[in-house]
Amino acid sequence: MFIRNPKPWHNERSPVTPKRIYFNRRHFLKSVIGVGIGATSLSLAGCQTSESDRALQKTLNQPKISPLKTNPNFASVDRPITNEKLAGSYNNFYEFGGDKSIWLKAQELPTDNWKVEVTGLVKNPKTYDLDDIKKQFPIEERIYRFRCVEAWSMVLPWVGFPMKELIKAVEPTSKAKFVRFTSFYDETVMPGPTFSLGNLPWPYTEGLRIEEMANELAFFAIGIYGEELPKQHGAPIRAVLPWKYGFKGAKSIVKVEFLAQQPATYWHTRIPNEYGFIANVNPDVPHPRWSQATEKFIGTGPDLSWDIKPTQLYNGYQEYVAHLYS
Ligand code: MTE
Repeated sequence: MFIRNPKPWHNERSPVTPKRIYFNRRHFLKSVIGVGIGATSLSLAGCQTSESDRALQKTLNQPKISPLKTNPNFASVDRPITNEKLAGSYNNFYEFGGDKSIWLKAQELPTDNWKVEVTGLVKNPKTYDLDDIKKQFPIEERIYRFRCVEAWSMVLPWVGFPMKELIKAVEPTSKAKFVRFTSFYDETVMPGPTFSLGNLPWPYTEGLRIEEMANELAFFAIGIYGEELPKQHGAPIRAVLPWKYGFKGAKSIVKVEFLAQQPATYWHTRIPNEYGFIANVNPDVPHPRWSQATEKFIGTGPDLSWDIKPTQLYNGYQEYVAHLYS
């Protein structure tokens, strides 16, 4: 007999905690509006018409990744997994626009024959295609908390492999102290935000110290919700760093470079006093324009309902990363 055992993200969103606060757009805008990552207008995520709902669903229907094992150390967190449609329609991908509803525009991202060049201070530089990646690295599922610097959070089931496996494969030399991730950029399909942020230092780049990259948590995702990454989430490969603010997780990576010096990165270059290079989740370090003491855990009820939760140091991953910063 075939027994369907649905994963939580296949269920319709339902209230999961007693305390539900209706997502107050005005309040949210007031708390995050301004120039920078917080300069968002809210999408109607979760409020799609049925036609756009079908179009959204189509973007989320990606090839399944199988066989798929969930790493038992990261099989759950203290909160439910965010609804797939909400996560796939409430995104930051500034190359396609400065609001959250870029999912349709992001379908212009050309992902065929994707290559990732791994270069710099390494013994074995190599350009990988996606088949190489799937064959060479141990692909698994990990459920991680996800915390945006804008003070909202989700829980996402990523599929991918630990960054330390890439380190093993390419063998950085002793001179390599940092790594830089570069996202794909093509201005003909990536219009950028409609509001002015001045000259934007495209392509989007992010970076880590090498010991952060070697940490157990640092992850390259090639999938989410058991399927290959939809374009709006940064197909076909992106960085996921659950103890850091979400902007550290560069999407649609085309280059990984091992470097001797700390690299310039997109947000740090653009607004250095607001977006640091380290950018660990920390309730005691407010963003210059808003507090980080609490976060809005969104998607706890219909549409954009949220719960207010206290922000956890390192997003709750102290046991894995605290030693890196002592
Ligand atoms: N990567 C690129 N290339 N461009 C971006 O604008 N935004 C970052 C990060 N990676 C961004 C990016 C920010 S601010 C966040 S919060 C996360 O992607 C959002 O990831 P998600 O849309 O999959 O939730």
